[in-house]
Amino acid sequence: MQLTKTFTRLALGSAIMLASLGSVQAQEDEVKIGFIVKKPEQAWFINEQQAATAVGEELGFDVVRLSGEDGQEVLTAIDNLYAQGAEGFVICPPDVRLGPAIMNRANQYDMKVVTVDDQFVNSSGEPMEGVPHLGMSGYKIGQQVGDAIAAEIEARGWNPEEVAALRITNNELPTAVERTDGATAALLDAGFPEGNIFDAPQQNSDTASAFSAASPVLSQRGDYEHWVIYALNEESVLGGVRATEQYGLAPEDVIGVGINGSGAAFAEFSRDNPTGFHGTVAVSSTMHGRQTAEDLYRWISEDKQPPANTETSGVLMTRENWQEVREDLGL
Ligand code: GLA
Repeated sequence: MQLTKTFTRLALGSAIMLASLGSVQAQEDEVKIGFIVKKPEQAWFINEQQAATAVGEELGFDVVRLSGEDGQEVLTAIDNLYAQGAEGFVICPPDVRLGPAIMNRANQYDMKVVTVDDQFVNSSGEPMEGVPHLGMSGYKIGQQVGDAIAAEIEARGWNPEEVAALRITNNELPTAVERTDGATAALLDAGFPEGNIFDAPQQNSDTASAFSAASPVLSQRGDYEHWVIYALNEESVLGGVRATEQYGLAPEDVIGVGINGSGAAFAEFSRDNPTGFHGTVAVSSTMHGRQTAEDLYRWISEDKQPPANTETSGVLMTRENWQEVREDLGL
């Protein structure tokens, strides 16, 4: 009796050991990829990385989430990934001009690369076509921003001649230029006076850099009482909105429309009182993260080449419909 018990315990013990060895083995056999983002603290990128991890759990591959806020950090991340046995990575680079240097390092390690959101450019500033990319259809989404602003100007009964537009620009980033160009074109189409559009060039793509860019423009153009604000993303529009608040403009005198539809916008829409942040064109960061991670995984494991360039679309989200749109986009 005693013997049987001991034996059973032993057998059980080794079965458990074997089982756990088995799962270690399975994990080691799993394809591993990296997911590197330029702004790991921004809700858009947090969600994108989480979605990549989730699809990895579903399909059976491992995702290492890393931050790459400058060139050095990106190269170190690639070295780390290689040391961990990763066979490729998805990246939203901190500077699109780092494309050739990043591809050099990846090629040394024979790693596959997919870009998300911000597409690499070569030394002549042209998109690096050889690297599969998935990102927003910048110009169209920009036009949606412009249309939304024009509709709201009309809804508030403002005379466009007396309205100033704050265009928070980032000329270093092609998708940013496309987005703000699209918004400008839609505003001009709607009859907005070109002379009332003022540039606030930002050095980055976050709220702080937009706030610093916006503040001096507001004080230089103190003769305008009504302002509209647009930029490459909602974080930057929020920087502009915060600047109008600090300058003393009331929320009803400001129409800011962003792009992304991430936690930054949800927080703003959840406030008891409306702010100058009127809306945002929401795009599914969940889809961006899932799709790029899955594409890279299938490239590695099935030799299936990802599409060269996928352009995603968006839908206007406001205080009225944000929860519904959020659910529709799986955010
Ligand atoms: C850029 C912006 C992000 C987000 C993505 C979406 O990277 O900086 O905020 O808008 O594009 O493609």
